[in-house]
Amino acid sequence: MNIVAELTVKALHAHAGTAWPHYHEALITACRKAPPPFGTRSYGEIYRDAAMNPWWMALIQMNIAEIRTRVHHLLQRPMLLAHCAPERRRRLARVLDALLLDETRHIAYTAALIEEFACSGEAELVKRLMQERLSDFNAITNEDLGRNVFESV
Ligand SMILES: [Fe+2]
Repeated sequence: MNIVAELTVKALHAHAGTAWPHYHEALITACRKAPPPFGTRSYGEIYRDAAMNPWWMALIQMNIAEIRTRVHHLLQRPMLLAHCAPERRRRLARVLDALLLDETRHIAYTAALIEEFACSGEAELVKRLMQERLSDFNAITNEDLGRNVFESV
C-alpha cells in the first residue's frame, strides 16, 4: 500500500475502526494509481532538510497551508449547499460552520506562536520569512493551476 494511504488509513482507524470501506478503497486505489509526490523518499528528504530551520516550515508553512485550506472551505461552501437536498441544508451548514471554525483554529495555533517569536525581537525575520514562504507557496499553487489539478473527471 502506498505510504500516504497507509498513514491515513491507520490514523483514521482510531476514529472509525474498519468503517468507511468505500472511502478506504478509493483512497488506496487513488494513491496506487497517482502516488502523491509528498509520499516519496526524495520529497521527505528535501522537506526534512528545509524543516531543519523550524521557522521555515514548522510554523509559517503550516500557517499558510491552513489559510489556503480555509479559503477552499469558503469557496466550496455555496456549491456544497446548492447541491445539497433542501431538507438537509441546515445540517450541512452546521457541519460546514464547524469545519470552518476548525480551520480558523488551525491558523490561530501557528499564528500565536509566530507572534510570540516576532515579539522576542524577530519581527523583521517573521515578516521576511512570511513573504518568502508565501511566494514559494504561490509558485507551487500556480504550478498546480497550470496542470489543471482541479479539473473534474
Ligand atoms: Fe486545517
